[in-house]
Amino acid sequence: MAKFLVENKGPLRGEVTISGAKNAVLPIMAATILASEECVIQDVPDLRDVDVMCQILESLGVKVNADFSNNRLSLNAAEILYNETPHELAKRMRASILTMGPLLARTGSAVVALPGGCAIGARPIDLHLKGFEALGAEIIFSDNQVEARADRLKGGRIYLDYPSVGATENIITAAVLAEGTTIIENVAEEPEIVDLANYLNKMGAKIKGAGTDTIKIEGVERLHGTTHTVIPDRIETGTFMVAAAITRGDVLIKNVVPDHVRPVIAKLKECGCTVEDTIDGLRVKADTGRLTATDIKTLPYPGFPTDMQSQFMALLTTVEGKSTVIETVFENRYMHITELNRMGADIVTDGRSAVVHGGAPLHGASVMSTDLRAGAALVLAGLAASGVTEISEIYHIERGYTEFVEKLRGIGADIRRED
Ligand code: EPZ
Repeated sequence: MAKFLVENKGPLRGEVTISGAKNAVLPIMAATILASEECVIQDVPDLRDVDVMCQILESLGVKVNADFSNNRLSLNAAEILYNETPHELAKRMRASILTMGPLLARTGSAVVALPGGCAIGARPIDLHLKGFEALGAEIIFSDNQVEARADRLKGGRIYLDYPSVGATENIITAAVLAEGTTIIENVAEEPEIVDLANYLNKMGAKIKGAGTDTIKIEGVERLHGTTHTVIPDRIETGTFMVAAAITRGDVLIKNVVPDHVRPVIAKLKECGCTVEDTIDGLRVKADTGRLTATDIKTLPYPGFPTDMQSQFMALLTTVEGKSTVIETVFENRYMHITELNRMGADIVTDGRSAVVHGGAPLHGASVMSTDLRAGAALVLAGLAASGVTEISEIYHIERGYTEFVEKLRGIGADIRRED
């Protein structure tokens, strides 16, 4: 099994460029099912999850032309031949559920494997299905799959019990071809939702309010092709910002949207880092003076992102003092704590909160990445630890970070991948 070997080579310095966003491109690729003409997506990150979504779309009849040397995807869903995502592919990636809304709207029926839980939580899809039902779909469970069926969806009013990202995306893509008006309240406000709505509006959809807590959609008869450039990955951005801070370095992060990482900027400044919004990108400096402890509480956007919780916790282990971290979005997102404590950290949990007693020097160890962001946090901790940190199960990390090793080495990190 491949693994990463990481050593502390001192402060990271230099420039790194952020790739397109995984969590924006996946719903955008799925939404392409709605159009009967070619769509071109640019700045597509070369990631395993993107590859799996390509395979899912191809299995449904979409013509896929991937050119990762130019980060460009051409997708043509003129002919949708099937309405069921293959189980073995759906099992490999939860985001396969995002094909359900577009398939239902385009073909009148969508069948998907029930995704089941993952390392970070049970992750039910009840809010997705409730949304489809509110648009007039019939929901049928059988064996280990669920079908949504409707001749033509009808616009309706939906209040989400929780501002779920996935449910918001799935309901939007179902409602754009529905008859009449749909209003969705208490929706997710993440930048990825705005990017999806911008993409769909370019295809001829009529969506208003993306980025606020209420979205209004006027259904249309059909959607046409378009060309779209995906937003930069704000979680990759945050991960490199913390990489600069945890090594007490000075790094310029290019191709970023500062607004998308406001909570991370605020928390790094609270710790004592300098974060400059320059014309070339965000510059994070932590090479002057001591950093101080701070508290984190994860929340839906624009709150502090749950996808940055583990990386920031790794940083707090290297900062003198007591910090409290509260994870409110997922019920089981502390798998990295055991591994960080194996590296000499002192973190205790109590239900959804964790107390970090920071400042104890970290040392290298053999640790395991349990999910995508937990794995990234272990790499960052390894950059600040004495000796060699050996990280296994790195396929989790490679699902969501493009050229992670090359980009880190480009700013002076000592990290290598061993098969
Ligand atoms: C998206 O997952 C992201 N994934 C996740 O990123 C991210 O952690 C999450 O949003 C929150 O920001 C993609 O975009 C592909 P949710 P999603 O629906 O859509 C509960 C990463 O590291 N819920 O907003 O699955 C759910 O259990 C990944 O890149 C229901 O109860 O997240 C969770 O506790 C990890 N019923 C909470 O809502 C539902 O029907 C938030 O889930 C749906 C969700």
